[in-house]
Amino acid sequence: MLDEFILRQATMADLPALQSLHAEAVRSQSLGFYDDSQIDTFLRKIGTLDPRLIGAGTYYVIVVDDEIVGSGGWGATGSVVGTDASPITQEVLLPTAAAMRSFFVSSHHARKGIARTLLGNAEEEARRAGFEIFELLATLNAIPFYVRHGYCPFEAANLRVGNCPSLPAIKMRKQDRVLQ
Ligand SMILES: CC(C)(COP(=O)(O)OP(=O)(O)OC[C@H]1O[C@@H](n2cnc3c(N)ncnc32)[C@H](O)[C@@H]1OP(=O)(O)O)[C@@H](O)C(=O)NCCC(=O)NCCS
Repeated sequence: MLDEFILRQATMADLPALQSLHAEAVRSQSLGFYDDSQIDTFLRKIGTLDPRLIGAGTYYVIVVDDEIVGSGGWGATGSVVGTDASPITQEVLLPTAAAMRSFFVSSHHARKGIARTLLGNAEEEARRAGFEIFELLATLNAIPFYVRHGYCPFEAANLRVGNCPSLPAIKMRKQDRVLQ
């Protein structure tokens, strides 16, 4: 576990550092699940972070020794994937669900509970905003992390951009109480 860290809202000034973090996290930790061309499609065509989340104040970073080592957040409306500029989006299935978005952790700080802290923070904020259901789109490598935190798969997804190689992924959901 981390001894000392800062959890704070992301700002637009963090965007370059976030892009580097996301590229490193994906390239290092999705090996064996996606090939290089799929990863390039994810990073360059689909995009890993919607800046609108930063604008809404619902995207967070964890900083250790002045370096952003993890990020993740949530959205009150809209898509579980894509950015303001990407060609694809996928809306949450249940209109009453909050979208958990874009969890990435540096491989140098893996398995220290950083993503767990970010996900817990996002869920807690979404709960305070009135949500009891959370949906997300998990890359295949991240499924065990989300299962560990109570998410269940409910639909397979295949992200396709033009003629680029498609990316299989899984839509997952967590709900605080059983719906009537
Ligand atoms: C998925 C990811 C965000 C997890 O970040 P992390 O900070 O290393 O995760 P945590 O330390 O908070 O993990 C908490 C628990 O989740 C589970 N878990 C996390 N990563 C796991 C993995 N790769 N395999 C199996 N279980 C995993 C474990 O139970 C872990 O607890 P433990 O370490 O005590 O066993 C990180 O691996 C990552 O950035 N991957 C590449 C980018 C990506 O795919 N992001 C998700 C997009 S949907």
